[in-house]
Parts: sequence; C-alpha cells; structure tokens
Amino acid sequence: MLLEVKELTVQFATEAGLLTAVENVSFEVKAGEVVGIVGESGCGKSVTALSILRLIPRPPGRFARGRIVFKGQDLLSLPLGALRQIRGKQIGMIFQEPMTALSPLKRVGRQMVEILRVHEPGLSKAQAWAAATRWLASVGIPEPAERMHSYPFQLSGGMRQRVMIAMALMLHPALLIADEPTTALDVTIQAQVFELIREMKADDTSMLLITHDMGVIWELCDRVLVMYASHIVEAGDTNALFDDPRHPYTRGLLRAMPRLDAEIEQLEAIEGQVPSPLDYPPGCHFSARCPIAIERCQTEAPPLERLADGRQVACFRATEPLADGENRHG
Ligand SMILES: Nc1ncnc2c1ncn2[C@@H]1O[C@H](COP(=O)(O)OP(=O)(O)OP(=O)(O)O)[C@@H](O)[C@H]1O
Ligand SMILES: [Mg+2]
Repeated sequence: MLLEVKELTVQFATEAGLLTAVENVSFEVKAGEVVGIVGESGCGKSVTALSILRLIPRPPGRFARGRIVFKGQDLLSLPLGALRQIRGKQIGMIFQEPMTALSPLKRVGRQMVEILRVHEPGLSKAQAWAAATRWLASVGIPEPAERMHSYPFQLSGGMRQRVMIAMALMLHPALLIADEPTTALDVTIQAQVFELIREMKADDTSMLLITHDMGVIWELCDRVLVMYASHIVEAGDTNALFDDPRHPYTRGLLRAMPRLDAEIEQLEAIEGQVPSPLDYPPGCHFSARCPIAIERCQTEAPPLERLADGRQVACFRATEPLADGENRHG
C-alpha cells in the first residue's frame, strides 16, 4: 500500500472554541490509483490533504489521533529532516492558487533549477536548465525556452498552474496531491489540465485529487471518498458509487450535478445548511438535512461500514432498498 491514513482526527483551537476539522478519517491510496475526495466547502478536504505532508499550522492545529503511513513510514512521527526528504520528492502537492507554491521574486527557470539541484545534487546548472525547459514543454507551455526567463506574475493563471504542475512532476513523486487544481481556471484551461492529469495517470502516478465537483471525479478518479462535515460518509469505486449511491448525501451531490443524459436539466441543491464545525451534532452530522433520517440518527453516529460490494458507507439505512419513486440518485 502506498498511503494509508488511519483514524485521523485533526482539531484547531480557535477563539470560538475547539473545532474538529477532520474526524476519524481512514482511507488508502494504492500504487497507480487516482483517488478523489469530494464534498462541500469546509468539510475537511484540504485539512486531510495538508495533514499528509504535515503542513497543518500547529498550533492552532493538532493531530488529535491517527496515523499516516506512506511506504511503511509513519509521517506524523517522522523527524522533520526525514519528512523534508519526502515532501516534493516522494509526495508532490499542487494547490488551488499557484502563487502560493511559486516564489514571486524569482524567474520560473531559476526556481525550477534550484529545486532540481536540491534533489539531484549531481546535476550541473546547464543540465538542470535543459531538464526544466523540457518539463515546461511537457506540460504544454508554448515557447518554454522563453518562459524560463519569465517571472510568475508575467504568466496567465493557466500558465502558472502548468508551471506548478511541471515543478511537482519533475521530481517524479510516487504520489501527487492536487487540491482543487482547476477551480481558479477558465473552462478551456481546465480541460487542458484534466488532459495532463489523464496523462499522468497513464504514466502510473498515484494521485489524491480534491474537488467539490462530482463531474471531475467522474472524469478522472478510480475511487472516491465523499466527505461531509469532517467525516467520510461513503467511499468506493467511482462507477459503483455513481451507479448506486448508498448514502443520502452522495445521492444529493449527484442530483446537484449537471447531467448530459438528462432530457431536462434538473439541478437540485441539497436543502439546509452544513452544521458548524464548532458544534457538530452528537449523531450523524448529516441527520438535520437528511430526507431519510430516523430517530437513532440524531443521537448515534453511524460507523463507516463495508457493504458486500466492497464500498463503505456511514448510514444506518445504507442497505435498505430505495423507496418507491426514488430514482437511483434520489
Ligand atoms: N488554520 C486553521 N485554523 C482554524 N480552522 C481551520 C484552519 N484550517 C482549516 N480550518 C477549519 O477546518 C475545517 C475544514 O477546512 P478545510 O479547509 O479542510 O475545508 P475544505 O473541505 O477544503 O473546504 P473548501 O472546499 O472550501 O476548500 C473548516 O471548518 C475550516 O474553517
Ligand atoms: Mg479546501
């Protein structure tokens, strides 16, 4: 197993009180697999991703519980020096806003050469420069030799995103974590970045891809973790989960997704509001918005349990047949 996250709980001490951002989250990423994390804003996707590289600010953050095992090493207890060897080189990360990963004051080429030479001290400057130029070309940047001399602010958002992807890929990480890599981009550039991700997938790079968009999951992911208010509520193969979602929240997400095969586009937002992470209810976090909640759901949190088909669902009613008139997505 490449990555195993086990019973991870992450909390933040805020002025308003103790906030649980991620609670008892467990999942795995196998070699060559693309795993998606999907869920509404604030559900804990980024905190989960940042925890893997221990990039949570501590304080106010705190790993209250859990283990993160990458290639057999527990990243949460690894000495910082050893962790730095893993960041970038073994586990790459691309963020929603590329400016956070790029230095604004250095030309693109110089940044890339510096990173390459830190990880491969044997490379000469000229060799590293040539390699970096090839990487810019490989992510579809036109005139890469010229772009090596550009400052990040001289590039468009889409080009900056590609530079960040090139910088992450050039170290050949075994795992790439991409947190909303296309959210800030326009549709054409989004499509190009998706194409790049597909190529990486074909090259056997494992990926953890974070998005709030079920369409992105469908396009790119082998497996999906659905998060709601700090918990994983459903996890399974993308096909199975789209075909027969078992958690009412997953059904809601799918109903809210535009569909090409629908004759009339019927987008339904999920009613109600996500509870405050400072004050999650004692039972199922989704119970207040859930169309099929029963009394038990208010007081008892359903555990994430494996069904016969291998998928995991945290719902007391996961195996019940759907009521008459309910389609598979509702
Ligand atoms: N540094 C921090 N200090 C305090 N609270 C934080 C911090 N970082 C995240 N949180 C809180 O943790 C919870 C989970 O946040 P997270 O960023 O993981 O959400 P997300 O699912 O990535 O949302 P989005 O889709 O908006 O990116 C939120 O309630 C957020 O306010
Ligand atoms: Mg986020």
